[in-house]
Order: sequence, then structure tokens, then C-alpha cells
Amino acid sequence: TGPELFLPERANSMGFDLAHPPTLDAMDRARDPWRAHVWEAGPLLAAEALPEPAQEMRNPADHAEIVGRVAWASERDVHTALDTAATWDAPAAERAEVLRRVADLYEAHYGELFALCAREAGKMVRDAVAELREAADFLRYYAAHAPEAAPVGRFACISPWNFPLAIFTGQVSAALAAGNAVLAKPAEQSPLIAHRAVQLFHEAGVPRSALQLLPGAGDVGAALTSDARTDGVAFTGGTDTARKIRAAMAENLAPGAPLVAETGGLNAMIVDSTALPEQAVQAIVESAFQSAGQRCSALRCLYVQEDIAEAFTEMLTGAMDALVTGDPWALATDVSPVIDPEAQRDIAGYIDAARAGGRVIHQLEAPDGGSFVGPALIRVPGIGALEREVFGPVLHLATFRAEEIDKVIDAINGTGYGLTFGLQTRIDDRVQHVADRIHAGNIYVNRNQIGAIVGSQPFGGEGLSGTGPKAGGPHYLPRFTKAEPPMQGA
Ligand code: NAD
Ligand code: ALA
Repeated sequence: TGPELFLPERANSMGFDLAHPPTLDAMDRARDPWRAHVWEAGPLLAAEALPEPAQEMRNPADHAEIVGRVAWASERDVHTALDTAATWDAPAAERAEVLRRVADLYEAHYGELFALCAREAGKMVRDAVAELREAADFLRYYAAHAPEAAPVGRFACISPWNFPLAIFTGQVSAALAAGNAVLAKPAEQSPLIAHRAVQLFHEAGVPRSALQLLPGAGDVGAALTSDARTDGVAFTGGTDTARKIRAAMAENLAPGAPLVAETGGLNAMIVDSTALPEQAVQAIVESAFQSAGQRCSALRCLYVQEDIAEAFTEMLTGAMDALVTGDPWALATDVSPVIDPEAQRDIAGYIDAARAGGRVIHQLEAPDGGSFVGPALIRVPGIGALEREVFGPVLHLATFRAEEIDKVIDAINGTGYGLTFGLQTRIDDRVQHVADRIHAGNIYVNRNQIGAIVGSQPFGGEGLSGTGPKAGGPHYLPRFTKAEPPMQGA
């Protein structure tokens, strides 16, 4: 028997110790059977649908490898799903029990889910572990707080590909914990993971009429958000998409229909001259390049105090040189591929334009065969704000003089985004000064600025970064009910 990998009685999933050889052996045994598996996915409706011609899904790390085939939901499927959707009328305690069972099933199937995360979404091992932990945590947390209050009704849950299991599960489990009828629309880049997740929800006992899956591109999401039968929307994705959804809802849905939107960021970190350099460099490398920079929380613009900038930049580029970009399946990998060739072209084009302008300080080589982008460090002239979120392993560097710190804060707030922010300093008063002024949902001091912990560190932004309330926190679930009561145990 393998080591004890999960302790279901804990509030948060314990995850994996990747420095523990027996744990690694158990993980390899669990995921190896899925090394070459080809999954099949399609709509999962209360009324069976006829699958349409299937599209191949390819491994972002190896474009020659087919990971699965998917049938996209048609317009008719969207109508059928809305017609047959039914709220989950079981008592809150029963819903909670079923959701806990889903968490147990996720953990029991961790080998397959890790393989799917790696092969469909390019998630390296550390990221796949975090995905599963967070997904199980969302399930158990929302189960623990499942409200008796009336559900909103038919809830469209529209999710991104960058947390294909965790965010998909977080939205769906919150809406189900409150008893809604869920119409789940995963990102077109990650339908196989979503399909497997919904199968496990159904296996645990969620009625098919309470959870239906509609794989497809933005048009499927748009069909849901512009249909008057939809009563509420949970969305995570780009800020521009959120604007379109809000407009569609305003035109077609009841005026009070709730929208929970979690969107992008232009996240910054300030490093002053008192920061511990080794700590700061490690935090920066993780924040900017882990998950190939494809986290909404990822560090995009680093502000380093001028006095230390030269030596600090040298340390930073040295640390970048130690990064391994490559196959997500391999434990040694630090930087996985970006999601698809289109994203790769966009990011590479952005870096090339910066290079033509003489602004690339450093960039690593990337392997061929998949959508790999070598991590890049790009200079920003002055304390200028970035123009857009470049969703990949691209870090911008600006410098500031000691007396300019408030100017830096203004520049960061001036972007209008407000998701994550990092600060590296050993001056206690500065922590308070900066934290009081920065507009960001999650502020991280003297550590990396990615990641969140369901229940103890809820995650979400303000301004262009989202509507709130934070996911994994006490204010989230009431948005999925009519009554907005205080949270209660189930
Ligand atoms: P995206 O906005 O392109 O797509 C997100 C989802 O919306 C997908 O399922 C997509 O098919 C759907 N969609 C697209 N157009 C639509 C429309 N008109 N109507 C309804 N649905 C539509 O985002 P993405 O590329 O999948 O994800 C990356 C983005 O998500 C980044 O901007 C990132 O910062 C953001 N994100 C935010 C958070 C957060 O918690 N704040 C978390 C993860 C990702
Ligand atoms: N909670 C996710 C992260 O912090 C979005 O990276």
C-alpha cells in the first residue's frame, strides 16, 4: 500500500510531498496508466444529446499527441439543457454529503486527473497537485456551508482553461451547494477535464438535471448569458469577456440576475532596498514564471528600487537561467508550455516587438514541438503602466527612486486593475503604508504572490479584476442564493 495521501477529515486537502520518494512512486503508479489514454467528451445533458463530429484535442507540450476528442454543444443542446434544468431540491445536508463524496472521488481518481491536467492543459506536477487540492477544498468548504436559503435558479458557470479543474469545480460546487441548476460551460481549451469532473459529480449523486455540461467556445457561453431562462452567471476569465457578458445579461436577463465575475490583472510587486535579495528573487521567479505565467495572480510588473537594481537584476537573470522549460509530466520542469499555438504566437509576438525596441533584458530558450515560450524579462521605461495583460511567462521590470514610492503606488492603482500585489521590504511601517494605499484583492508581503487557500485566504479582485466576493471565503455562497443569509453549517 502507498503512503497516506489524503486525510479527508482535515478542513483542507493535504496535497503531496514531492520530496518524499514513496509519495512519488505512488503518484507514478496512479498516473502512468493514463500516459497515452485518449479521452472522449461531449455535452452531458439531462436529456441525452446526439454527439456531433468530434474535434481532436492536442497536448500543449507535444502538438503531435492527441489527448482526446470532443463533441461541442450545439445551439439545440443549449436550449435542451435550459429546458430540462431543475434546481436541486434536496435538503442542504444531503447536498453537502454528495459534494463531499465528489471531493473523495476526485482524490480517488487523482492519477487520471493529474494526467489530464498535464496532457490537456500543460499543467506540471506541482500545478496539478495544487489544482486537485484547491478543487477538493472548494467542494468541502462549500459543502460545509451549504445554505438552506432558496437558490437563484438556473446558474450558468463559465470558466477559463488556466485552472481547468479548480476554478471549474469552485464555481460549480458553490452553485450546487446552494441548490441551483447548473449549466457548466468550460473553456474550449479544456473540455476533457471538465467532462471527467462532471462524470464524477454525477457518480457521487448530483442529479443530471441539476448539473449539465455544455462544452464549446464563447458562442455557447454567449447563448447562455443572453437567454432569459438563465437566472445567474458565475464567470472567470478575461475582463473584456466579462464586459460582454454583463452587456448580454443587461439586455436579456432579469435586472436582478447576479453576476459573479473574476477577471484579469496587471499585478505588480515592489522590491525596496531593504528586501532580502534571495527571498525576493525566489518569490519573483515563482510569481512570474510558475504555471508559465498563466495565472491571473501572476506577477506582471516588478518595481525595484534604483539603488539595488543593477545587482538585483543580475541575481534575477541568474535565477531565470536555472529554470527548466519543458515537459509538464517531468518532475524537474519549472516552466510548462502555454496553452496552445495561438497563445504562443501572441506572447512570442509581444516579446519580439519588445526586442525590436531594445527592451528585452533576458530571455531563455524554449524547446520545440509544443507551445513553449522561454521566460522573458522586459524593461519598462520609467514608472509606466503596462498596456495589457500578457498571459504568459513575461515579466516587466521598472526602477524607482526611494522618494518615488507613492508615485509607484499611483501608477499601479492607475491601471484600474486590482487583483494581486506583492511587497518585499524589511521596513514594518512601509508594509502598512503601502498596504493601506494599494488597490488589490490579495496583498502578499515577503513571499510569492500566487496561490490562495480556500477557507483561510479567499481570493478575488476589485476594479477591472472582478466583482467580488472572493472565492473560498464567507461572502461567496450567498451570491448563489436569493436570500443572502449569513452562512450556516450543514
Ligand atoms: P476568456 O475570457 O477568453 O474565456 C473564459 C470563458 O469565457 C471561456 O469558457 C470562454 O469560452 C468563455 N467566453 C468567451 N467569450 C464569451 C462570451 N461572449 N460570452 C460568454 N462566455 C464567453 O479567458 P481565458 O483565456 O479562458 O482565461 C484567461 C483569463 O482569465 C485571464 O485574463 C485571467 O487573468 C483570467 N482569470 C481570472 C481569474 C480570477 O480569479 N480573477 C482566475 C483565472 C483566470
Ligand atoms: N488562486 C489562484 C492563484 O492564486 C487563482 O493563482
